[in-house]
Amino acid sequence: MELTADLAIGVFDSGVGGLTVLDELLARLPAEDFLYFGDTAWFPYGEKGDDQLRARAEEISRWLLGQGVKLIVIACNTATAAAAEHLQRVLEVPVIGVMTPEAHAAVLTTRNRRVGLLATEATVRSGSYARMVRAHDAGVELVSVPCPLLAPAIQSGDPFDERIMEMVREYTAPLREAGVDTVILGCTHYPMVERLLRRSLPGVTLITSGEELAREVHDSLRRRDLLRATGTEGDYRFACSGDPAAFRELGSRFLQMPLGVVEQVLGGAPERAVG
Ligand code: DGL
Repeated sequence: MELTADLAIGVFDSGVGGLTVLDELLARLPAEDFLYFGDTAWFPYGEKGDDQLRARAEEISRWLLGQGVKLIVIACNTATAAAAEHLQRVLEVPVIGVMTPEAHAAVLTTRNRRVGLLATEATVRSGSYARMVRAHDAGVELVSVPCPLLAPAIQSGDPFDERIMEMVREYTAPLREAGVDTVILGCTHYPMVERLLRRSLPGVTLITSGEELAREVHDSLRRRDLLRATGTEGDYRFACSGDPAAFRELGSRFLQMPLGVVEQVLGGAPERAVG
């Protein structure tokens, strides 16, 4: 398949978390078309096994390719940890995940060389962030905290009340104790509770993936001569595997933009949780 500048950029996540990444992409690449897929029927990815996530990520990517995309963004840390290398091997378009830019930014930011990580269980278990941080600076200590309930609490669409505040307090306690000065928000859902996190981690620099990643996507397209001419406004459209009305409602609340018609594709929950 020949890649041309007029094709769209494909973006996917397990739900609405990747919208925090799409938000940056829309701002940095306004002339581009975007196709976002939220795998809401499979949410949460954080408790699934690597093989299962790899197969699903490939299925989603092949669907995106069938729609006509020139680059795929994995706007989900869990899927990046499980499937980025596999997708880069088997697909004929560039695939960019969310973890490398954050690991790099965290190492450049920390002064006391103590960095915290908040992420899903699967992401922490993969050890990917620890490897990436070490590759940039072997002297940086990474304190990782799995937060199994946080992405589901955000994705549920319930108001951010005292219960979620308490959850955030609990998950950040080990990081306060360890005295980290920089924390990677290692799940694309977490920037949606950034205010709560800031309150629980005073004086700590929070690292999110959107901005760095958008820069990388821009660079990747520019070097390959696949950037659209500026001056026009691109389109964006959405699809999900679960209930499209629920996705539309939650998505427009978080993105603060109208989502339009949300198509339902690749439906059906996973048959069983396998490793
Ligand atoms: N937003 C996803 C991530 O970045 C994961 C949430 C989930 O599906 O568990 O890790």
